[in-house]
Amino acid sequence: MVKIDLKNLKVEARKEIKKTDNLKDLDEIFKKYLGKKGEITRIFNSLKKLSPKERKKLGEGANLVKREVEEMTKERAKELQEELRKQKIEKEKIDVTRPGKKLEIGHLHPLTLVQREVEEIFQSMGFSVIIGPEIETEWYNFDALNIPKDHPARDMWDTFWLRNNQKIPNPKSQIPNKSQILNFKSQKLLLRTHTSPLQVRYMEKHQPPLRIIVPGRCFRHEATDASHEIQFYQLEGLVVDKDISGANFKAIIEEFLKRFFKTDIEIRLRPSFFPFTEPSFEIDIRRKKGKWVETMGAGMVHPKVFEAAGLNPKNWQGFAFGAGLDRLAMLKYKINDIRLFYSSDLRFLKQF
Ligand code: PHE
Repeated sequence: MVKIDLKNLKVEARKEIKKTDNLKDLDEIFKKYLGKKGEITRIFNSLKKLSPKERKKLGEGANLVKREVEEMTKERAKELQEELRKQKIEKEKIDVTRPGKKLEIGHLHPLTLVQREVEEIFQSMGFSVIIGPEIETEWYNFDALNIPKDHPARDMWDTFWLRNNQKIPNPKSQIPNKSQILNFKSQKLLLRTHTSPLQVRYMEKHQPPLRIIVPGRCFRHEATDASHEIQFYQLEGLVVDKDISGANFKAIIEEFLKRFFKTDIEIRLRPSFFPFTEPSFEIDIRRKKGKWVETMGAGMVHPKVFEAAGLNPKNWQGFAFGAGLDRLAMLKYKINDIRLFYSSDLRFLKQF
C-alpha cells in the first residue's frame, strides 16, 4: 500500500499558497495539486487500485484536502485581487489639495511702466498725452525747429536717414500737382532723433493755450555705451500761453520729479544751447548725493518755432522740455546700463 501523507500535502499546499504574490503563480500552484496531473488528482486516480476500505479512507481524506486547497486558493485569489485594486487606486489617486502648476503671466516692460507713470503725473497737472510718427520728415525734425540744412547744430543729432524720398500721402488729392511733387522731393525722411517735431505738428493744428506731453521712441545713429542707445525714449513737454516763464517750468518739473521719485531729488539747471529754445538749459538730477545725471534739455520756445507753426510769436510764450525716459527709469530703478532695456534678457525683465 502506498503511504500518502495527506496532512503534509495540505501543509505544503497552504505554505505555497500563502507565499504567492500574484494570480499567475497561484494558478500554477492550484494546477500542481488539482490539475490533470496534480498531486491530489493523482491520488484520486490511484483509488481504484485500492481495497474498498482503503479507498474510502483515502478518498475521504483526499476530498477533504481537495476542498481545503480549493478554499485556500479562492481566498488567496480574493486577497491578491484586492491588493491589485488597492495598488491601482493608489496609482490613479489625484491629490486635489496639491497646488496647481503656476501659469506664467506676462508683465509690462520697465520702460512702459515708467511711461505710464509719467503720463499719469502730467495728466493730473492738466497735460494731454500726444503721440506722433517715428518716421519724420526733415522739415518737422529739423527745419521747423530752426535747424536749417547745413547748420552745424544738426551735428547734435546723428541721424538715420531713410534712403528713398518716399512720397508722403496727400489726403486731399490722389494725383499730386507739380508743386506738390517738388515738395515731396524736399521731404527727406528720417527716423526722428527727438520728440520735438511734435511741437510744431501740434501747434499747427491747435490754438494755444496748450499743455502737452509727447512720449515716444527716438533714434540716433551713434555708438552705444552704458548711457547711449541707438533707440531710446523721450518725453517731450510743451506749455504755451500768454504769460509763461522759466519759473513756471521749474515749478512743474520739480513737482513732477518729486512725485515720480517719491524722494528728495536735487536738480541743477545748466545754461545750454538748442536752436529751438532761447534761453536753453540742461537739467541734471541726482538722488542722495549720487552722481549728477543729465536727464533733460529745455528752454523757452524760440520765436522761429512759433512762426513755423503759423503762430505769432508776439502773442505767445512757452517752454518746452525733452526728457530721457530711459534715464528716468535708470535713476528710479538704479539701473546702470541703458542697453539692458533692449536686451530682451528675461533675468533682467522679470525683476519688474
Ligand atoms: N529735443 C532736444 C534733444 O533731443 C531736447 C529738448 C526738447 C530741448 C525741448 C529743449 C526743448 O536733445
